[in-house]
Amino acid sequence: MPTIGIPKEIHPGERRVAATPQTILKLKKLGFDVMVESGAGSTINASDAEYREAGAAIAADAKELWSSSDVVIKVRPPEDGEAEMIREGGWLVGFMWPGQNREIIDRLAKRKATVFAMDSVPRITRAQKMDTLSAMANIAGYRAIIEAAQHFPRFFTGQITAAGKIDPAKVLVIGAGVAGLSAIGAAKGLGAIVRAFDPRSATKDQVASMGAEFLELDVKEEGEGKGGYAKQMSDDFLKAEMALFAQQAMQVDIIVTTALIPGKPAPKLITQGMVESMKPGSVIVDLAAEQGGNCVLTEPGKVVHHKGVSIIGYTDLPSRMASMSSQLYGACVTALLDDLRKAPADEKAEDEATRLYVNLDDEIVRGAIVLHEGKMLWPAPVKEQPPPPEPGGSAKEHVAVAKAASSGHGADDGAGISPWLLLAVAVILLGLGVVVPAGKLSHFTVFMLAVFVGFQVVWNVKPALHTPLMSVTNAISGIILVGGMLQLSGEMNVTTILGAIAVLIATINIAGGFLVTNRMLAMFRK
Ligand code: NAI
Repeated sequence: MPTIGIPKEIHPGERRVAATPQTILKLKKLGFDVMVESGAGSTINASDAEYREAGAAIAADAKELWSSSDVVIKVRPPEDGEAEMIREGGWLVGFMWPGQNREIIDRLAKRKATVFAMDSVPRITRAQKMDTLSAMANIAGYRAIIEAAQHFPRFFTGQITAAGKIDPAKVLVIGAGVAGLSAIGAAKGLGAIVRAFDPRSATKDQVASMGAEFLELDVKEEGEGKGGYAKQMSDDFLKAEMALFAQQAMQVDIIVTTALIPGKPAPKLITQGMVESMKPGSVIVDLAAEQGGNCVLTEPGKVVHHKGVSIIGYTDLPSRMASMSSQLYGACVTALLDDLRKAPADEKAEDEATRLYVNLDDEIVRGAIVLHEGKMLWPAPVKEQPPPPEPGGSAKEHVAVAKAASSGHGADDGAGISPWLLLAVAVILLGLGVVVPAGKLSHFTVFMLAVFVGFQVVWNVKPALHTPLMSVTNAISGIILVGGMLQLSGEMNVTTILGAIAVLIATINIAGGFLVTNRMLAMFRK
């Protein structure tokens, strides 16, 4: 029977281990022999004796472990000579991130190894029990709230005490994937008011079912991409959501950001301006820190303090709850090993668990395999998805309708401006031109142009940007300052006093308006 080997993780700070005494019981039940490196469970309070009791043999050191194991299961990709320790033709299962670790994969290929990446297991229903990414993200989301609570100087829950009323903390969760939903659950459990945002409309009900408020945008763009992940959003969408976050940043106490599209750097959604607009003592937990962070001030692995706001960029949140994450990770790896016991259709299965098979017809195996006897098989070919059916007509028709609507010619449905209405306005204007006294006609022309320009400006600015637009127009309207200044010359009388007051108030209006606009626009700058 194949021997499954579990070495001690050597990555600095890594506290997880690929199997716990409980998951070893399961491996034994499947018929495997198991060997654990001495001290491998020290970081999760599992002694060699407990592993032995569960049925594992104990290897004195890493060398003995790697050379005696048919299949090594690990958490982190091999490092510091581990790749060279694997048996010629041996198997390895663990987080591999093959896209980022080509050099390690090449070294394993030289050993003719067969390698499976837990991070490449496809997100399909049958593979849910092997989904280590979701298992770890679930823990990371929970832990993000615990870390936030440690830095947040107030209660999460509201209280009414003899000493006064305490408002509940407000938490904003950006990205309602696995980690985001878990963070929502943890924050709600502590009594906070929770809001969440995600571009995938499917998350709306999930957020609501967790008891949080789903924030919505006026911009309609569906974020659902392939395999249950989000797609990259348009610049307009990103701008609009950032405007939403800018408003929220001034209101909430804690922001947990988890926004990510696989294989892409994390979108920068929280600007320095937004951080500075948060209340002192506020906390941001940036789960996307390892991929560059959703907040511009995040430093991976560190806690940054900026103008009273703590920005947590830990990249090892699951490892901070090592016994729990090792248990879930070990269970996922065991489920994959169980799947690898199934023989391909064209091969006659031997007695179960006497060997493992590489069945490339199995979608899970094909997705996860990186090397087969040293041959590179990653990434798995992408399956062509049939195009979604066009509701009520062909794609060409939709394009034609969209073009007509945008050029203003699609008037049949009433979306465009009726030519009759335009004619009526023209007649009224002509009539006014005839009756208005000649002296006032130039004022009237300026007024009409102002209405037209103002309408065009407001109409072409996204609703999310209307607040900065209003503050700048407010500032410009302070131009009445000139009127006040004109009254200031001459003797002191009621007119000059009123003029002085007008100058003072208009100055505050102009300076304040531009200041507020500047602060708001700073929040959109990356
Ligand atoms: P996921 O793919 O399930 O969720 C990511 C969510 O972000 C998706 O719901 C997606 O729709 C959303 N999103 C994408 N673009 C967005 C945008 N522009 N605005 C708002 N939302 C957007 O991923 P999962 O598993 O929940 O992980 C979330 C993050 O946590 C990832 O960055 C992952 O690498 C990280 N993570 C961090 C750990 C740590 O120790 N710091 C541990 C585990 C995961």
